[in-house]
Amino acid sequence: MSNQDQMKKAAAEAALEYVEDGMVVGIGTGSTANHFIDLLAKMKGRIDGTVASSEASAERLRGHGIPVLDLNAVGPIPLYVDGADEATRHLHLIKGGGGALTREKIVAAASERFVCIADDSKLVNVLGTFPLPVEVIPMARSHVGRAMLKLGGQPELRHGFTTDNGNLILDVFNLDMTDPVALETEINQIAGVVTVGIFARRPADVLILGGKDGVKTLT
Ligand code: A5P
Repeated sequence: MSNQDQMKKAAAEAALEYVEDGMVVGIGTGSTANHFIDLLAKMKGRIDGTVASSEASAERLRGHGIPVLDLNAVGPIPLYVDGADEATRHLHLIKGGGGALTREKIVAAASERFVCIADDSKLVNVLGTFPLPVEVIPMARSHVGRAMLKLGGQPELRHGFTTDNGNLILDVFNLDMTDPVALETEINQIAGVVTVGIFARRPADVLILGGKDGVKTLT
């Protein structure tokens, strides 16, 4: 396992402390969330089940014999654990590098506590070095792309990729993201945008970062 992967695993391990008996746990997507799923398997008898943010995570959970529930069949979720592509000290995030941003945003919105887990290379002063994923309805691809150009970004279609919802992803480079709350609101309002991968209006509540000197927690 690479050093970075060990840091991701350490962050995932620390997030287990937030899991309580009888909980339904929201589960993110990506390599850090996969560590969390694998670790959660050891305590699967203690939780009531999970809500998955992607087909890939659902499949991994079921592979461990962990029940995956329909979000519509459960009430508010007490805990959501997921990774991020970038995070700030204000716990604002960019997500969607794996393309699961829409379901991730839904599960985050439905959760009382969002614990974000990452290796500490993801911590940045200002979001935006990582290209911003935007999920779009296919017929709106060009329209949304032009809107991104007007905002100062350079959109690139994620070739050969379709989301779990049957949509496309534009990865947008070079956006000014010094006000992530305002930018999230602005991009959300463009017709044809399903979800923008800025998680600032609903940021994480806890950020656990694995580093070479151990795990740090920001709240
Ligand atoms: C999935 O769509 C993303 O939001 C992931 O949470 C993000 O890309 C982090 O992935 P890793 O844990 O693989 O770095």
